[in-house]
Amino acid sequence: MLTAASTDNTGRQYLPQSPDVLSPNQALMPLSSTVNGQDHLVVGGCDVIELVKQYGSPLYILDEQTLRTTCRQYRDSFQKYYGGESLVIYASKAWSCMAICAIVDSEGLGFDVVSGGELYTTLKAGVSPQKIYFHGNNKSREELNFALDEGVTIIVDNFFELELLKGLTGDRQTTAKIILRLTPGIECHTHEYIRTGHLDSKFGFDPNQIEAAFELVSQAEFLNCIGLHAHIGSQIFEQQPHKDLGDVLAGWYKKAADYGLNPEILNLGGGLGIRYTESDDPPSIEAWSQNVAQSLEAACRSHGIPLPKLIVEPGRSLVGSACVTAYTVGSRKVVPEIRTYVSVDGGMSDNPRPITYQSLYRAVIANRLSAPCEETITVAGKHCESGDVVIKDAQLPMPQPGDILVVLATGAYNYSMASNYNRIGRPAAVLVNDGEAQLIIRRETLEDLVRQDCLPERLRQG
Ligand code: LLP
Repeated sequence: MLTAASTDNTGRQYLPQSPDVLSPNQALMPLSSTVNGQDHLVVGGCDVIELVKQYGSPLYILDEQTLRTTCRQYRDSFQKYYGGESLVIYASKAWSCMAICAIVDSEGLGFDVVSGGELYTTLKAGVSPQKIYFHGNNKSREELNFALDEGVTIIVDNFFELELLKGLTGDRQTTAKIILRLTPGIECHTHEYIRTGHLDSKFGFDPNQIEAAFELVSQAEFLNCIGLHAHIGSQIFEQQPHKDLGDVLAGWYKKAADYGLNPEILNLGGGLGIRYTESDDPPSIEAWSQNVAQSLEAACRSHGIPLPKLIVEPGRSLVGSACVTAYTVGSRKVVPEIRTYVSVDGGMSDNPRPITYQSLYRAVIANRLSAPCEETITVAGKHCESGDVVIKDAQLPMPQPGDILVVLATGAYNYSMASNYNRIGRPAAVLVNDGEAQLIIRRETLEDLVRQDCLPERLRQG
């Protein structure tokens, strides 16, 4: 196994590390990463340079071993540390595609979906509707009808949606399973765009609305409230916020009984962070799960309630560390005394996180893995926007045109937030395992890029 090191005393890009890392979300590289005799990075038994030759670049490379290990660590940790029933569901917004859904499903996890599109993808992958939970603060009537047709559980976010669902289920005369999303008023230290549990949030019922929501649900003939939910934010390294959350939710769980409701599920959301660079220090999956499980048990004891079924819904930490993105290095521009830009053949359209959240990433030159880091350069994307920088001030062996630059930990919120900005096609994704690579997302072609365009007859030339 390899671990990226920004500088070691040999100046190489990598230090071989003992295989007891542990929790995939703490590893910079996919767990199966090694180096071969040609000094190339190998993931899932596949030489990354050969993968780029075969599939082109940019290329998302997803390591099945890492993804499955993560699923198992989550599942097994909750079984180990929680006295009641538990279910881990994958927040598929992190990366929704059929192959990932199929793998996660085969590991026994459920799914959180937030749109008709994610619901459709998950169902197409063969997931049972019983294991799907539908989120969103503004689901459309069509999306709700789709969910009701399939019988998935709906996580209701606000009064507007409650009324809408009351009407739709009344028309159908069929009962829908719902979970109420609450805003717990808990702060956590993460980027403000990805914080959701504080009071100034567009999501969920505020503490002063919750009892009115309980009242409304208790009066609705066809709404069966099976649980309560809260999610406080993403890329969180602290443990305290989830401890506090267990207590807040256990309190509301107890209160629900006053309204004749018997929720059996408490869903504590996702949020565990991953290591993008050496300076990130997230708790392990096992430690996080232990904290969530044991603090919820303690909260239930102190509120005098039985243990509910516990659901958590991680996204980033399930898929983030399992993928790397390979780019081909192109042009170089030296701005004397200021910086050197080295451009790659992708950027903000395949990974909008740096420009959106100023996220930091770590890269390696995959065709010269033991070359010493001798340059500080800025890795720029190819889009027509100055802010399109993949990594500022990266320590790398002097990148040459044609080198394959691999950015680490790109599994979460990269493909899922990718765009066609500048009419650049979205990259392909391959799944690697045991020396075999299989395409899971095909590269968009020029033809794909104009597929949805309509050219009215009167505008046609000639
Ligand atoms: N549950 C709910 C209700 C959520 O809103 C989210 C993430 C999750 C679970 C999963 O959280 P995770 O385990 O991934 O932290 N695009 C941003 C992240 C947005 C997160 C949105 N909600 C980024 O690239 O950092």
